[in-house]
Amino acid sequence: MNEQIILSVENLSKTYESAGEPVHALKNVSFSLKKGELIAVMGTSGSGKSTLLNVLGALDEPNSGKVSVNGQYSKSMFKEPLATDYRRDNIGFIFQSYNLLKDLTVEENIGLPLLLKEESKDEIDRKTGEMMELMGLGNWKHHRPVQLSGGQQQRVAIGRALITEPPIVLADELTGNLDTNTAKEILRVLTDMKEKFNQSMLVVTHDPKVATYADRVLFFHDGEIVDEYKCTGTDDIDRIMHIFQKILEGQPV
Ligand SMILES: Nc1ncnc2c1ncn2[C@@H]1O[C@H](COP(=O)(O)OP(=O)(O)OP(=O)(O)O)[C@@H](O)[C@H]1O
Ligand SMILES: [Mg+2]
Repeated sequence: MNEQIILSVENLSKTYESAGEPVHALKNVSFSLKKGELIAVMGTSGSGKSTLLNVLGALDEPNSGKVSVNGQYSKSMFKEPLATDYRRDNIGFIFQSYNLLKDLTVEENIGLPLLLKEESKDEIDRKTGEMMELMGLGNWKHHRPVQLSGGQQQRVAIGRALITEPPIVLADELTGNLDTNTAKEILRVLTDMKEKFNQSMLVVTHDPKVATYADRVLFFHDGEIVDEYKCTGTDDIDRIMHIFQKILEGQPV
């Protein structure tokens, strides 16, 4: 990790309407993500974590605030067609439910972003082949998602998210459907990739073990960052659990 800030978020707010009532999903959220940094986002259910990822991935538009990438800020980045360009050039998404296309093979799922970028067939074959090897999916390239385990499906989803080498990866509960050992393997793959491509990652999780893989943990409650923890490599899990428990109990932190 170096000190270069890749993503800067300033006073980001998002309010939804629900049954005629405003829901303040994000309230003046500010933080920055450095090049090569992995930030875990933890928080109570409904605290705005998915909303944050959706806004940072320009899938949803904030009501106010600024998001800058590499110091560049564009007011219209949340509007099409710029939103699509922004996503294509900057963002890889990984979801809890994998979101693979069920009629496509492993190879076709992983190569899809390159196809959308209109890269040549040779390039697509080369890059997809490399990625399948990195993900340990070489023997599965002609399989369809339904023929794979959860961990394998998530590796396909990671391969697809990383194939364009996006500088920023956003992951929402990526190990939420996996057992402990598979979750560990997925996190190892993800952190290896982060080192290889020097990417920056924002990983939403409710699992303190997942959060220990991060450089920093941001704790959300009620649409706000209420605490922050820097991982040291010693006793991180106990400290993260302690902070999270306090937030769950509604105590001031
Ligand atoms: N499209 C929407 N329309 C209305 N309200 C929404 C919408 N999306 C989210 N919300 C509300 O915004 C708040 C934040 O939701 P969000 O999904 O970001 O929470 P979360 O932290 O990801 O929760 P969880 O841990 O349960 O996934 C919640 O009160 C939710 O009901
Ligand atoms: Mg969520």
